Amino acid sequence: MLLFLCAKNRFMLLLVLILLQHQPWPSGASDKNKAMVEQLQRHGVITSTKVAEVMEAIDRGLFVPPAACASPYLDRPMPIGYNATISAPHMHAACLELLLKHLQPGMRALDVGSGTGYLTACIALMVGPEGRVVGVEHIPELVASSIENIKKSAAAPQLSDGSLSIHIADGREGWPELAPYDAIHVGAAAPQIPQALIEQLKPGGRMVIPVGTALQELKVVDKKLDGSVSIRDDTSVRYVPLTSKDAQLHAG
Ligand SMILES: C[S@@+](CC[C@H](N)C(=O)[O-])C[C@H]1O[C@@H](n2cnc3c(N)ncnc32)[C@H](O)[C@@H]1O
Repeated sequence: MLLFLCAKNRFMLLLVLILLQHQPWPSGASDKNKAMVEQLQRHGVITSTKVAEVMEAIDRGLFVPPAACASPYLDRPMPIGYNATISAPHMHAACLELLLKHLQPGMRALDVGSGTGYLTACIALMVGPEGRVVGVEHIPELVASSIENIKKSAAAPQLSDGSLSIHIADGREGWPELAPYDAIHVGAAAPQIPQALIEQLKPGGRMVIPVGTALQELKVVDKKLDGSVSIRDDTSVRYVPLTSKDAQLHAG
């Protein structure tokens, strides 16, 4: 068919094909989502092209329940039911930046307390179909709705091909079936770092986890190649607790 097009049209067609090849994920995410990402870039929270690309590709509006807020793109946590929240965009961005080197294509990641599935979907785009991401969440209703959210997002193909999965489980135990992980993200604050999660971290891997009760710190846990572990505080944070399902559902 290319043969029958005039030279100018052939050039235009080739240009479109080249542009399409350089677009890593299907477009469709909203202008408001793009504006949210640009604001995080202006404020220096997003510094890498990769994190900007995935947060542009995964439309946050698909993950925030409609009743939660006037706009899903505001930079604050929002209620998702079951005494849980979707974390603020700046926290998602900060955690993706901290884990960037450990979320390269082909790598393996665990997202504990996957909630709406938003961050799990972002991580899936970062590690790609040749990688693997597991979300673990203990509220079955949130697991079901997160899977529906992801099906509408740019990460849907990875749910189908099996490189992304979400499971109902107590995240304090991790997900030993697919360990060790290059990256572990914990989306709820633990009183102390669960030993099972340290054990499931690959040598050379990194975990980002909020730790504390009233006062919480986002801790960066690096496992060195010799298996030794170093821990540093990144920033003060406020997350819902990593706890038992009963304690969460009956929290005042
Ligand atoms: C801040 S919220 C959601 C975070 C998620 N990254 C998001 O933005 O949608 C933390 C989640 O951790 C879950 N959670 C708390 N304790 C848990 C546990 N022991 N095992 C699994 N999930 C847990 C909560 O149900 C909640 O969905």
